Amino acid sequence: MKAMILQPPIGLDRLTLDDRPDPGAPGAGEIRVALHGSSLNYHDLGVATGRMPTEGGRIPLADGAGIVEAVGAGVTEFAAGDTVVSCFFPDWQDGAPRVGDFARTPGDGIDGFAQDHVVRPATAFTRAPRGYDAVEAATITTAGLTAWRALVVDGKLKPGDTVLLLGTGGVSIWALQLARAMGATVAITSSSAEKLERARALGADLTVNYREDAAWGQTVRRWTGGRGIDHVVEVGGPGTLAQSIEAVRIGGHISLIGVLTGGAGEVPTAALMAKQARLQGLIVGSRRDQQDMVRALDATGIRPVVDRRFPLEQLADAFRHEAGASHFGKIGIEW
Ligand SMILES: NC(=O)c1ccc[n+]([C@@H]2O[C@H](COP(=O)([O-])OP(=O)(O)OC[C@H]3O[C@@H](n4cnc5c(N)ncnc54)[C@H](OP(=O)(O)O)[C@@H]3O)[C@@H](O)[C@H]2O)c1
Repeated sequence: MKAMILQPPIGLDRLTLDDRPDPGAPGAGEIRVALHGSSLNYHDLGVATGRMPTEGGRIPLADGAGIVEAVGAGVTEFAAGDTVVSCFFPDWQDGAPRVGDFARTPGDGIDGFAQDHVVRPATAFTRAPRGYDAVEAATITTAGLTAWRALVVDGKLKPGDTVLLLGTGGVSIWALQLARAMGATVAITSSSAEKLERARALGADLTVNYREDAAWGQTVRRWTGGRGIDHVVEVGGPGTLAQSIEAVRIGGHISLIGVLTGGAGEVPTAALMAKQARLQGLIVGSRRDQQDMVRALDATGIRPVVDRRFPLEQLADAFRHEAGASHFGKIGIEW
């Protein structure tokens, strides 16, 4: 069975195609899945470049989707032939958050999905959205579910709400599509005029180039008539949080998600206090959240934006493409 592995010392040049033993037949409560697609996340890039340390020999990629080949004793939720997609936290089934690290996240603490077949507990997967191919389905594991949790689970988004999105990567474009489908009005920032044009075509109402407008938070707040934004999907971190606080409305909601500008920095605490805004850290979501999201995708017919697809053997090139940040939405891996 083929698998891409991270050879120590870990780096993109050390990603190699390996031959691994077939995982065999599923045991009780397990399913055997023929994997056909994945998508890249900033987290996967961190693992593959060695910025986020993991074990040598690790199979990367948190997102995985494919077809059930066999089910073990006691599995009633799936049958052979079903299309399924993996869960970022295979052990967090439902309820309040209870995992704060990546020790059991595929492609980080345990082997990921850059391989042909896996045998895993049935509860580590959900049904894939109807009509999605494997790459499209894989985009919900990390980026899609994070956007869903920020806006729907934690944000309790309503039609008519305003949403601010930062940049045009995987999480932000998923959030744009979900927010528009739910009747929200969306402002989005990017470093690229061409990407902002594409965001407008997907329904973004206000577009701002964050390279040309350093005070983008104020620009966005002015656009809301001075009221401010209901929900900010904060993927930037310390370099963007002050502007996000500037943009948010009094009593609004900021989902603290990303580390694109670093992992620590200054927070204008008095400004946040004056805004009486809720600053909520989050990491992806539970399996129940993913099941709810799949149901919503079946109902709305949203299809994710896949910027480009690479074969599994060209995984290192796919990561280089991600690192170059020329992509819009998701980067797919298929085999
Ligand atoms: N907490 C969680 O559960 C969770 C889940 C998923 C992702 N994340 C985090 O969220 C962030 C985004 O992840 P992703 O997978 O969507 O990444 P990605 O697809 O690689 O997106 C990268 C994009 O971010 C934008 N960007 C970079 N610096 C920016 C800045 N200073 N201001 C605004 N936008 C900026 C750029 O957009 P333009 O090219 O348009 O400028 C870039 O193309 C990462 O930090 C990731 O670790 C967290």
